[in-house]
Amino acid sequence: MSATPVLASTREELAALLAPARAGGEPVGLVPTMGALHEGHASLVRAGRDRIARAGRSGPLVVSVFVNPLQFGPHEDLDRYPRTLEADLKVCEREGVDIVFAPGVEEVYPGGAPQVTVRPGPLGKVLEGKTRPGHFRGVLTVVAKLFGLVRPDVAVFGQKDYQQLTLIRRMALDLNLGVEIIGAETVREVDGLALSSRNRYLDAEQRQEAVALSRALRAAQEAAGYGADVALTAAWAELRAAPGVDVDYLVITDPDLGELPPAVPPGTPARILVAARVGSTRLIDNIPVTLGLPANGVSD
Ligand code: PAF
Repeated sequence: MSATPVLASTREELAALLAPARAGGEPVGLVPTMGALHEGHASLVRAGRDRIARAGRSGPLVVSVFVNPLQFGPHEDLDRYPRTLEADLKVCEREGVDIVFAPGVEEVYPGGAPQVTVRPGPLGKVLEGKTRPGHFRGVLTVVAKLFGLVRPDVAVFGQKDYQQLTLIRRMALDLNLGVEIIGAETVREVDGLALSSRNRYLDAEQRQEAVALSRALRAAQEAAGYGADVALTAAWAELRAAPGVDVDYLVITDPDLGELPPAVPPGTPARILVAARVGSTRLIDNIPVTLGLPANGVSD
């Protein structure tokens, strides 16, 4: 049985809890979340722990739980976002988290709406950024703030939100934030559906339809040996077979979300990403693919 994580709600409480680790030079791990924790988040915690253990060190692992208003658009329902702190604490206890930082909005934004924010650059305007203007500015700003408050050595994000992960890596690089960013593999239901806090909005029929996204990605992965176009065609076949799935985009990019050149040598790594609405719920998913080589053993 794991020890109960300590709950910090203010910046001062957090600083006091982290002080011994800082004084002892122990590495600090951070898993930023918006709560509503599920098995996918649990896997992020494990990835953080493993990274710290691999360095042969022990140090506190912090999970932050904060529904960040700045990353919600005016038509996205911030109030509808699930807030389940008690259940989240149980997940954290089971996973051996040391500190849960669950601040209020005024703790994270003490000066009100921030005047200085992190601009994501061109990658913030495509894919998710196209339908959700301002979203990545909100994400990067809050992640930078959390990094400032926790000052982690290692931070873990899910590959499920691949564009977010890519932008956070880029921010850490461009702003020399001195934190190692780990991208943890997507956790899936047995039928392939990627775990997401949004899956709870799907009714039984929509839940069946939603599996078309991961089915499409698998089909693309298997066909990728024949090239990017064939992979996309295979994915579209699966998506078209699910009439309740309204596709926003299906793309193949390089691993950094850049454009692939028209002809690539066999063995070129790429990423295929999909976004679709199922009912009123917007779902995203992605998977790594290797172009021009048989698909044996490729998985995410
Ligand atoms: O992925 C999320 O849950 C959020 O976008 C994050 C990274 C915690 C920032 O609010």
